[in-house]
Amino acid sequence: MATPPRDLREWIALLEREGELRRISAEVDPDLEITEITDRVVKSGGPALLFENPKSSSHPLLINQFGTERRMCLALGVETLDDAAAKLGDILDMQPPEGLREKVRGLLKLKSLADSRPKTVAKAPCQEVFYEGADVDLGRLPIQRCWPDDPAPFITLPAVITKDPKTGTRNVGMYRMQVIDKSSTFMHWQMHKDGRADLLAAEDGRIPVAVAIGLDPVTAYSASAPLPKHLDELMLAGFLRGEPVELVRCKTVDLEVPANAEIVLEGWVAKDDTGIEGPFGDHTGYYSHAEPFPIFRISAMTMRRDAIYASIVVGKPPAEDAWLGKATERIFLPAVRMTLPEIVDYDLPVAGAFHNCVIVSIRKAFPGHAQKVMHALWGLGMLSLSKSIVVVDEHVDVHDYADVFFRVTANVDPKRDVLITEGPLDHLDHAPGRQFYGGKLGIDATHKLPEEDARPWPEEIVMSEDVKELVTRRWVEYGL
Ligand SMILES: Cc1cc2nc3c(=O)[nH]c(=O)nc-3n(C[C@H](O)[C@H](O)[C@H](O)COP(=O)(O)O)c2cc1C
Repeated sequence: MATPPRDLREWIALLEREGELRRISAEVDPDLEITEITDRVVKSGGPALLFENPKSSSHPLLINQFGTERRMCLALGVETLDDAAAKLGDILDMQPPEGLREKVRGLLKLKSLADSRPKTVAKAPCQEVFYEGADVDLGRLPIQRCWPDDPAPFITLPAVITKDPKTGTRNVGMYRMQVIDKSSTFMHWQMHKDGRADLLAAEDGRIPVAVAIGLDPVTAYSASAPLPKHLDELMLAGFLRGEPVELVRCKTVDLEVPANAEIVLEGWVAKDDTGIEGPFGDHTGYYSHAEPFPIFRISAMTMRRDAIYASIVVGKPPAEDAWLGKATERIFLPAVRMTLPEIVDYDLPVAGAFHNCVIVSIRKAFPGHAQKVMHALWGLGMLSLSKSIVVVDEHVDVHDYADVFFRVTANVDPKRDVLITEGPLDHLDHAPGRQFYGGKLGIDATHKLPEEDARPWPEEIVMSEDVKELVTRRWVEYGL
């Protein structure tokens, strides 16, 4: 495993060395034009793009940094996304050690956890330039208007930092921010998100907020990770990086931000200061409806002298966020298995915009086991918002959608094996009659047991191993 890049500049240099970055020196408009270019490049599996000359801004714009599996792995410093998961799994699996060697290994693991805690530094590049009050001007940044019906430019790749007013626990989340004017934006904290919960918990009705843009890729990824509320996403970033995230105190609010950020916005969000945000062309492939959201009033903007702005385009899948989502799918599998050890693997198809479908394979051991797993997933963190769950047997490859479709069509009696229930749904799901709440679909595509009202289950057709070996050995002889 390599050490992940320490800041956005190291990351850009690494991408360039690996042939994963293209510089565009032509003047290009952040208003729609960058989206169309990026969308074509993302959908053809192309490189990260550094727009050196965005129209009306002196700051370059980096996009598509996460757009392929290879770049997501480079970002995390791993060969495969499962390697990042294994690192976490190793900690979650810790048992009381036996013997000296195991004790030493255990201590090293604990040290890697202890070293994940962020540390504060006195001086930081992200504060080289300081604008306050009337000098704050978001117009300096090449903020994209992504899709034709978006009413304004949106900051799309921010790490938004708040603290729970009661416990003091930090939260870092990625929430889009629609520009209102030169010193305010909306804060798109959806119904089930922790940033929103922090605001709702504020007894005096407002909370300080800091926004970091242009981070090292692991910290940027961590902002999108669905950690439980009591866990600090910067701990996860430190753990995945193998070194703590360095923080610096903000200039005008009582918060800390990653010292390596390119750009920082500081300010306040209040419960009674809201407006109508959106519509926005979102990762569902549709425009999300305009609706009320709180306003972020910016008190200060700090940045590096030659700050690079980082952005992302979401839209009809697959878009760049696919690999952020896939990283989460892989990295969180060991944590999901802590509650459900019978799970072999799962897959959240990109085309299902992640919350629309989960395919899960299990070691089925008793009647109703598939239904047990469905209900447990509908009660687990952000997976609770999944609209449909397909359960297959342990030997089925959940990433092979053709095989999964075969099982769903072959193994399911729709009357017996389809569960329709209801529960909370993703904020952005436009299909249900009511927002936030509606139907859920569970499909049990496992083999059925006699107790599940099934006839004796037939044997699956599988060629015998000795014949397979024979044919492999003789393959060249057949001249095929
Ligand atoms: C590119 C991108 C944009 C996102 N935009 C939003 C958003 O506007 N609002 C939101 O609530 N979640 C958004 N998310 C999802 C959250 O970042 C994600 O659910 C995260 O876990 C939220 O953190 P929290 O659980 O600490 O609130 C976005 C994710 C990505 C990758």
